[in-house]
Amino acid sequence: MNLAELTGKVIVIEGTDGVGRSTQTRLLKPWLEQQGRAVLETGIKRSLLAGSGIRKAQEGHTLGRTTLSLFYATDFADRLEKEIVPALRAGIVVLTDRYIFSLMARAIVRGVDPAWVRNAYSFALKPDAVFYLRIGVEDLIPRVVFSRGFDYWESGMDLHPSEDMYDSFQKYQMALLAQFDKLAEEYGFEVIDASADIREPLFSPARTRPAEEAEPKVLEMPASKPPAVAADQGEGDGAVPQAVAKAADGDAST
Ligand SMILES: Nc1ncnc2c1ncn2[C@@H]1O[C@H](COP(=O)(O)OP(=O)(O)OP(=O)(O)O)[C@@H](O)[C@H]1O
Ligand SMILES: [Mg+2]
Repeated sequence: MNLAELTGKVIVIEGTDGVGRSTQTRLLKPWLEQQGRAVLETGIKRSLLAGSGIRKAQEGHTLGRTTLSLFYATDFADRLEKEIVPALRAGIVVLTDRYIFSLMARAIVRGVDPAWVRNAYSFALKPDAVFYLRIGVEDLIPRVVFSRGFDYWESGMDLHPSEDMYDSFQKYQMALLAQFDKLAEEYGFEVIDASADIREPLFSPARTRPAEEAEPKVLEMPASKPPAVAADQGEGDGAVPQAVAKAADGDAST
């Protein structure tokens, strides 16, 4: 692949379950389009090849951690090849609700070897910006309770942290947050305080780094290299997501 041909941008919205990724994506997409950018929206479990397979497998509760990780990696690889790369070649902005980082965090929390996980996703393209919507578990719980409630996988029930779903959700999401924080440091995410009101733009230009045009789009994640650190829709109101203006010169629950 000739990386120089990929003239589009990859903008990633990452964060734990129910943090507000869809809400922000729904604000960002029309705003980018108003700036004259063509936008492709994508997100995990949306590939033709593996999306429905993952959903079906998750209806049962017998999916092992390695199978789950490989299933997610397959879903990502399919979308990378068939959606993301063609869009980038056409100069389109790819707005992605989660990227490899959620998948890495989910796998690592389940005890999958971090080096194996990094190697599995080493084919990923380096995003132009990763906005990590961060919220404490104490703020996340009411947000999830009052929107759609707890889900088996989002509560990490396969790990049996507790008999109680509320308790499990809390423990599992805290473990995910810890992994996200490590990944944020390692890969230099833009950390956004997601506890702010929806109407307040969560993206602040002050937090945004200038776009690094010359950098190659390939993530450096060799398995042999020890990781720097040890060791997964709301309503828009037209608020302007300002960070994307600098960074970038459907909703399926995941
Ligand atoms: N900044 C915010 N303040 C308060 N509530 C919010 C905020 N952002 C989103 N919400 C609400 O939280 C709930 C979850 O938001 P949303 O669906 O955007 O999250 P998500 O990260 O896409 O979740 P999922 O993991 O299910 O895809 C919705 O009811 C939404 O209206
Ligand atoms: Mg969502």
